[in-house]
Amino acid sequence: GGGGHVEDVSFSFEGPFGVFDKAQLQRGLQVYNEVCSACHGLKFVAFRTLGDETGPGYDEEQVKAFAAMYEVPDPEGEPGDTRPGKPFDHFPANTSAGAPDLSLMAKARAGFHGPAGLGINQIVKGMGGPEYIYSLLIGYTGEEKTVAGSTLYENHAFPGGWISMAPPLEDGRVEYADGTPATKEQMAKDVAAFLMWAAEPKMVERKQAGARNFAFVVVLAVLLYLTNKKLWSKVK
Ligand code: HEM
Repeated sequence: GGGGHVEDVSFSFEGPFGVFDKAQLQRGLQVYNEVCSACHGLKFVAFRTLGDETGPGYDEEQVKAFAAMYEVPDPEGEPGDTRPGKPFDHFPANTSAGAPDLSLMAKARAGFHGPAGLGINQIVKGMGGPEYIYSLLIGYTGEEKTVAGSTLYENHAFPGGWISMAPPLEDGRVEYADGTPATKEQMAKDVAAFLMWAAEPKMVERKQAGARNFAFVVVLAVLLYLTNKKLWSKVK
């Protein structure tokens, strides 16, 4: 009881050379679209980013078609007018009071803490934002209670142990376009990966730059060492 239980999940994007799994991001987008977007928003994410090479990797026509499925406010029309979405538009903001925007959620939440507040688990296992989302989605116990007129659902991961979000996933909730069996765990993992990408779409580029910089520093260190030896060889 009490919540705060987060499972360590192995994601393709972990580690210094980790990359997003395109098929997984596409499945996660499908879960977001068909399930989460009923209540949550993704207002900082532009449709065009769905075409990112290191992201879901859709082609231009697919991105256009996807954006056009949404109605967005039309600033050129009468107040309240809408038009079909374009790639430069963003996903809609949330529709339901109390459901937080999910654009940055995977970075706003940490899954791993301690022991004793030292953050050692974060060094070993990572921050755990996507793991937290995964654990939240599969963490329902089935117990409910009503507090001051609202229903709360018991959940192993949610801090405090009781959340006002009803369990959004059950086996077979979506039918995956790529034929992957849609177990609750699979959908939770896919949407968690998708939300990590949404929160940090340039993660792969950042890691690749980091690896290049690190390689550069290693080569530089070797050269400096050899230079140093040569310069002082007569003195020693
Ligand atoms: C909260 C994810 C579907 C309503 C949250 C939180 C996450 C999340 C990560 C934040 C928990 C926290 O504060 O630490 C998702 C995902 C969904 C989904 C990935 C789809 C698979 C839904 C649906 C609804 C909903 C369909 C409405 C029927 C809410 C509400 C909260 C919430 C009301 C606030 C809960 C509270 O603070 O007690 N959700 N959600 N969510 N979600 Fe969802």
